[in-house]
Amino acid sequence: MNWFANWFDSEYYHILYNNRDKLEANLFIDNILKKFQPPDNAFFLDLACGSGRHSIYLNKKGYNVDGVDLSKKSLLKGKSYQNDTLKFIAEDIRSYKKPTKYDFILNLFTSFGYFETENDDINVLRNVKISLKKNGIFILDFFNANKVILDLKSYEEKKINNITFKIKKTYDQEFVYKEISIQDQKNNYIFTEKVRLIKLEKFKKYMRKLNMNLISIFGDYQFREFNPVSSERLILVIKKQL
Ligand SMILES: C[S@@+](CC[C@H](N)C(=O)[O-])C[C@H]1O[C@@H](n2cnc3c(N)ncnc32)[C@H](O)[C@@H]1O
Repeated sequence: MNWFANWFDSEYYHILYNNRDKLEANLFIDNILKKFQPPDNAFFLDLACGSGRHSIYLNKKGYNVDGVDLSKKSLLKGKSYQNDTLKFIAEDIRSYKKPTKYDFILNLFTSFGYFETENDDINVLRNVKISLKKNGIFILDFFNANKVILDLKSYEEKKINNITFKIKKTYDQEFVYKEISIQDQKNNYIFTEKVRLIKLEKFKKYMRKLNMNLISIFGDYQFREFNPVSSERLILVIKKQL
């Protein structure tokens, strides 16, 4: 099984990242709505939506939203919020496409760069392009690979709800790896996150290849300017013009 199918479907992912909560999602969505002023009838796709924290809030704000994710257990957490204008769909983002259905596609909190080959990453972007309406907007919220490497702590221990997480981080030319050893009462588990270290130049190359237009670059959820050394995030705003 691929690491991402395994790890994100485990309850431990949600426990370890419990600070990535609804409040953070609501603030980012508020900032997105303020910045892009989508019309009331705009249709959103939340690509790799997890438990749907962004989708649910967007829908509460009145928008039509589809959320797609591979993790059935994560999707279950959002299912009770489903209604005529909010749908959660279990599918792989490498295959999910709906020609010219969406005004906005969001891929939030480093939900990209998980695959063995760059071709798979590019396929996701190709599906995004197909699924956007003309002049539709894609917001890709990725980590700032430069800062990830600069700040890399090779070892860290966290205790949450009496569960011990021992985290080792390494990187090579292509990926950053996070080995997470978990001790929960008498049980031990190991998961490894593996995310491609994609920098701005590489994203620009992907966009040229797909003939998509990178219109703005930001460095955090408040949409402040991107600084290659110090920004926490690399947030790309991409427009489909053709
Ligand atoms: C870091 S989480 C972020 C989830 C959500 N965007 C959020 O901010 O809470 C990454 C998500 O990507 C999903 N994912 C990973 N690989 C996927 C794939 N091939 N197809 C669909 N979803 C995938 C995982 O199941 C997980 O929910």
